[in-house]
Amino acid sequence: AEVKKIAVIAGDGIGPEVIAEAEKVLKKTEEVFGYRFETEHGLFGGIAIDEKGTPLPQETLELCKKADAVLLGAVGGPKWDSNPKELRPETGLLGIRKELGLFSNIRPAVIFDCLKDASTLKPEVLEGTDLIVVRELTGGIYFGEKFRREGAHGEEAVDTCVYNVQEIERIARQAFEIARTRSKRLASVDKANVLETSRLWRETVIRISADYPDVELEHILVDNCAMQLLRRPSSFDVIVTENMFGDILSDEAAMLTGSIGMLSSASLGEGAFGLYEPVHGSAPDIAGQGISNPIATVLSVALMFRLTFGYHDAAEAIERAVKEVLDAGHRTGDIAVDKSKAIGTVAMGELIVNAIRK
Ligand code: NAD
Ligand code: IPM
Ligand code: MN
Repeated sequence: AEVKKIAVIAGDGIGPEVIAEAEKVLKKTEEVFGYRFETEHGLFGGIAIDEKGTPLPQETLELCKKADAVLLGAVGGPKWDSNPKELRPETGLLGIRKELGLFSNIRPAVIFDCLKDASTLKPEVLEGTDLIVVRELTGGIYFGEKFRREGAHGEEAVDTCVYNVQEIERIARQAFEIARTRSKRLASVDKANVLETSRLWRETVIRISADYPDVELEHILVDNCAMQLLRRPSSFDVIVTENMFGDILSDEAAMLTGSIGMLSSASLGEGAFGLYEPVHGSAPDIAGQGISNPIATVLSVALMFRLTFGYHDAAEAIERAVKEVLDAGHRTGDIAVDKSKAIGTVAMGELIVNAIRK
């Protein structure tokens, strides 16, 4: 098989722990399916600030640009939290998304039946839930002008939220295309009762919807959506929304699956290239203890196989392996009902690797 280049940037906190397990999965799929991967590691985030003086070193960016896909762990931690903006790990994350043109962030919340007891919600509420959050990733308040100034009442801080029509159109099209491959229902989430950017968002989504008459479009205000996600999650299929709303709603959706440690993501642009990362962060509270859940990262590898490489057989094998291990009752602490029986990151990774077969 053709050799696929994967840039691996593990980052900080539990990033390296979960990435190590995902790399074992890559290796196992090479053995089982005959695919070939060439991985190269790059410094990114807090560790890159410490070693190179910047969260996104030029050579890491170059490494990503010449790769077919990027596998990312997580960045950030208390050590860098009071740094100025340019020396924050999170700034590197926003930079890499922008530089690579990854405007579309796909976050599927899939409920494994056997994990219904791991969620804080009642099992009957979760019944049939299978949704995808399509989050706009390179615009909005994350990327608008931000500054401090002296105001009439002392120091003021300003963050501006900007969206142009083109940015909204391309993410809307992606979401309609995805909805088309599923149950053909799309919920566009905004705050059009208050925000001008949301009014442009809604107008634009409505205009684009004319090209997708087969998809049923619903508009829902973000506050109501946050509530309905807990009240009737199974009524959602594809949710499309702006950058910050998508950030918040996807962490909320994670709890439907039992844990943020279960949620994978794909960040895409116009082509096949993609960056794959768990939705969770560097989890400083549990970093270094070997107890983090590697499943979100492992499932992100499955997304990479499906969306960038078209290796559907290997993607399915990974997802089947995860299900098999969970069905057999193995749990990391975050998804364990009986915490005394929880297993660690490496044990979970190895169980999954051993369950991967044709
Ligand atoms: P977080 O997602 O790191 O952690 C939230 C909670 O979930 C914590 O209690 C943590 O222990 C738990 N958790 C997260 N992932 C887990 C896993 N795989 N297994 C078990 N438990 C898990 O969010 P936070 O605490 O708000 O942020 C910590 C740092 O991570 C911050 O610096 C933040 O900026 C950064 N962050 C980075 C990314 C990213 O790199 N993509 C995403 C989110 C947050
Ligand atoms: C995420 C994270 C990032 C975001 C932070 C760390 C910049 O929360 O990937 O969801 O807000 O996009
Ligand atoms: Mn987030």
